[in-house]
Amino acid sequence: MIAFRPTAKLDKQATVILFDQDQVKKRSLPQINNRQIREEILTLIKNGIFRGENQEVFPLGVKKQIILLVGVGKKEKTSLTALRITVRNVLLSNHLKKIKDVELITHEQSEDVITALIEAVLIGTYSWDKYKSKEEDKQKAEEKNIYLITAKKKEYDDIISICNGVTLTRNLVNENADVTNSTYIERVIKELIRGRKNTSIEILNQKELKAKGLNLHLAVNQGSPNEPKLIIVRYRGAATDGNFTALVGKGITFDTGGLNLKPTGSMETMRCDMSGAASVIGTLKNAIALNLRKNVIFAVGIAENVTGSRSYKPGDIFKCYSGKTVEIGNTDAEGRLVLADAIAYVVKNYKPARLIDIATLTGACVVALGYDYSGLVTNNDDLSRALVHASNATDDRVWRLPSYPEIKDYVKSPIADLKNTSVLKGAGGAITAAEFLRQFTGSTIWAHLDIAGTAFTDSPKGRWYYSHGATGAGVRLLTRYLLNN
Ligand code: BES
Ligand code: MN
Ligand code: ZN
Repeated sequence: MIAFRPTAKLDKQATVILFDQDQVKKRSLPQINNRQIREEILTLIKNGIFRGENQEVFPLGVKKQIILLVGVGKKEKTSLTALRITVRNVLLSNHLKKIKDVELITHEQSEDVITALIEAVLIGTYSWDKYKSKEEDKQKAEEKNIYLITAKKKEYDDIISICNGVTLTRNLVNENADVTNSTYIERVIKELIRGRKNTSIEILNQKELKAKGLNLHLAVNQGSPNEPKLIIVRYRGAATDGNFTALVGKGITFDTGGLNLKPTGSMETMRCDMSGAASVIGTLKNAIALNLRKNVIFAVGIAENVTGSRSYKPGDIFKCYSGKTVEIGNTDAEGRLVLADAIAYVVKNYKPARLIDIATLTGACVVALGYDYSGLVTNNDDLSRALVHASNATDDRVWRLPSYPEIKDYVKSPIADLKNTSVLKGAGGAITAAEFLRQFTGSTIWAHLDIAGTAFTDSPKGRWYYSHGATGAGVRLLTRYLLNN
């Protein structure tokens, strides 16, 4: 929990005071109404014992309380990302392990800094320990009460809401694939929109998908006992109708690769393959919580890519919803198939002004950009600018990759209209996959976000201020984008 208070009281079990090096140099302390503590800190600073370097932590015991002096480095050199990391690490440190209530004092009060601190608390202390049996093995840092010294603002309550959307997305992704199946996802979405008069929902199950000809979506799910679902929520937040932005998420609840089975080492984290859908759902939660004044279509294509006697096969050709035929070059390139039908369906039936799809689409994107930037491919420079702007504002990072006329030849098939693998094989795999999707967008303004590298972190200790597992990539980005545009 995080709460705001206008002035420091030093009344909690622990107090964290942030210092940048310039502050230390100028010996400017934040407002602390306790002479003894002020004197002690000044002495430490004067004698060069505490310098305010980044990640420097100096614990001070005062009666039954602990005061942590925490350095964030040179003001002009440290980034807001570094600030999030530093504060998150302090909150997870042994100093505060047993402590529930923490006052957090910052001299710097800009909106950017307060936002970063809220995120350091709510995104930084998240951990997935539902399956830890022993209470003492659970991190539980998210149960701490953090009292941040700043004046209350509506913007900050909004940031808290957005972080809660990120948490929902992370929980959906981290949970077992057999729990987060299509039925579960349907239930979560229905729960979010229950009683909301400005929302409506359309659900295409196996039967409807068949009747309407979303045969690519069906093909991917052929080996699975779970029902495929295309779930579409229409959210009306604007005063006038129309001008919808559509968000379309890849929801492969588990990706074994299908008959083109993934090898050991590539499959272990594939419950993350519904991260795009989970981000769309987290963004839906945010739209509702923030009472977003925009019109939005939230769509998720849910399927499971597993092997079975009925699995779809390499070499198969399917006629998809848009009418094009697609040759299956590789059953592991399943995300673009589900998305192709979902995109075509949303474009035809909902006629959005613009469409953004989000997907853990390609390993090639991870090769190209690593884990810190999601790939962005778009046919529109204004949309690109808007997304990059939202990315810079939220630390939910994207980097643009090219889309160009000549690339369309690489996704053609000798025996069908299109093929789900490219003639270039793996080369440029992130942009050829995006080009496959573009084939289904018609003349709609479109952007594609490849979050294969950013959605999930495999490393035991996590990455940056994200713990092991799902990061919620895309939620802050899409929410900010919708707020701004
Ligand atoms: N879900 C994977 C992509 C992925 C890889 C996500 C790593 C997260 C981390 C996707 O369905 C896939 O398997 N893509 C193939 C495409 C290939 C067969 C053309 C890939 O990237 O190897
Ligand atoms: Mn795959
Ligand atoms: Zn996949």
